[in-house]
Amino acid sequence: MKYLLDTADLAAIRRFCDIFPVAGVTSNPSIVNKEGKTDFFAHMNEIRSIIGPGKPLHIQVTALDTEGMMRDADTLLTKVDKEVYVKVPVTMEGIRAIKRLKAQGVHVTGTAIYSSQQGFLAMEAGADCIAPYFNRMENMGLDPDGIIAALAEMIRLYHYPTEILAASFKNAGQVDRAFLAGAQTATMDPSILEGVLTQPHITNAVA
Ligand code: E4P
Repeated sequence: MKYLLDTADLAAIRRFCDIFPVAGVTSNPSIVNKEGKTDFFAHMNEIRSIIGPGKPLHIQVTALDTEGMMRDADTLLTKVDKEVYVKVPVTMEGIRAIKRLKAQGVHVTGTAIYSSQQGFLAMEAGADCIAPYFNRMENMGLDPDGIIAALAEMIRLYHYPTEILAASFKNAGQVDRAFLAGAQTATMDPSILEGVLTQPHITNAVA
């Protein structure tokens, strides 16, 4: 199991990387917007310097069309570094971008996944990671456990090199379920990790 931080909050990344076994960092455009007015690339480079060169840093494209996604990816790889995992939504335009980026040897994460078939297509297109949105699926009455289990089963059956990077969590129980369903990796807001170890019953027991 690997834990990633789904945040662009530099202080939180510093603090939680020091405490927890953090394997990397993810963000998306709304997470970045939460940081307010900031130089985006300087900010991403700062995250890289906190986590170090060996850990995956996943950054999302904002363009909606393939050509724009390719340009966004090129800018990320130039202005941050070549090791960035370019997060691409698995849409019609996105799947084409995933194929093209993989042909260029770029690390790619297929994101905004709400169905097993969407994940299968991203795997077949070569995505290194796929990000099923656990809480959002649950809110829609979908079965995130079953969808993650189906993705894990295809990876096992056909030896895809793809990793399931489950995302969109609102509590630790959802993270448990994603891991149990077969996700190798989960990305979450640091408050979820902090909540696990700061429950009053733990503090009381220790006291
Ligand atoms: C990460 O890759 C996703 O963008 C993120 O986890 C979505 O989370 P949300 O459903 O809380 O917006």
